[in-house]
Amino acid sequence: MTDTQNANASDQEDYRHCEEYFNDVSAPLAFDETISNVQLFIGKCAPNQRTVLITSGATMVPIEQNTVNYIDNFSTGARGAASAEYFLENGYQVIFLHRNTSIKPYERLIPSALKVLEVGSAACCFSTVKVKADQFVKVRGVLEQAAKYTPSLFLLPYESLGEYMWFLRGISIELQQILGSRAMIYSAGAVADFYVLQRDMPEHKLHSDVEPTIKLSLTPKMLLPLSNKWAPDCYVVSFKLETDPSILIDRAKKALMTYHHNMVVANILATRRKTVTLVESTGKVIQIDNPNQANDIELLIVKVLEERHGEYIKRS
Ligand code: PMT
Repeated sequence: MTDTQNANASDQEDYRHCEEYFNDVSAPLAFDETISNVQLFIGKCAPNQRTVLITSGATMVPIEQNTVNYIDNFSTGARGAASAEYFLENGYQVIFLHRNTSIKPYERLIPSALKVLEVGSAACCFSTVKVKADQFVKVRGVLEQAAKYTPSLFLLPYESLGEYMWFLRGISIELQQILGSRAMIYSAGAVADFYVLQRDMPEHKLHSDVEPTIKLSLTPKMLLPLSNKWAPDCYVVSFKLETDPSILIDRAKKALMTYHHNMVVANILATRRKTVTLVESTGKVIQIDNPNQANDIELLIVKVLEERHGEYIKRS
């Protein structure tokens, strides 16, 4: 077999693996209704405007059917939330597919001491946050920004890996059909590498008097169908997170060769707020440094992506 035939055979195997995943995990509640709302939102994109789907936060993997215990992975959601704000400022519509507990756009800029959660004691409200009446003036600017951009922001929370996967597929297909190259998929979420198949999951809570056996299966790499079947015309950006700097760029290049998408944002866990490297499918590598961490590095990342996406739209 030639290298190309080998690659094709391995791609087919990966596609099959993804299909099996969707056969094993049921769709989230009200999935069709949510996708209809997403469709309406995308349909509002003006002819000269663009839409970005941002994935943000970690994914929870249940290990029991009636879930008490679960496996989780790392991500605060700060990258996704800050990026959403800068995409909005650059004129994009934003679909923010985020873990329900992770950081949200604008909300992240309000110090927790100023927030109140009880209804009735607040002077102002946006999204899920209410601010104490006597503190309103301190966060007025943030609240005004949030109010300005709310019509262009679709917040879609998920909790489990399964919900994340179903929404990722459903929304990507809509973006492809409605906008094609005018849509970007910015996959900053930290997706679990392992999950428990339905048939390997006990119905009830595991008990601590017996040492449990948990059978983990590999999560299929959704970037392959995402970039090649669900949204082949959209501009697709994935992220690569490593802890060892010596392998980072090679891993990013390998991801581009495997999934055939447009850009990888490569970052190291410990320095991810200070430096990232953008690796393009053309082979170009751009390092972005942000020595002053009082500023968000996402401002600089989004600036480059907005430009690259513009060139991509022109070419297509
Ligand atoms: O949230 P913060 O605390 O601000 O941190 C930001 C971040 C470090 C989480 C972010 O910058 C980042 O690097 N996100 C990707 C982390 C990750 O899990 O990488 P990965 O190597 O597992 O996945 C690579 C890419 O494939 C990712 O874009 C991921 O969304 C996608 N993926 C992964 C697994 C899978 N089954 N399907 C996928 O599509």
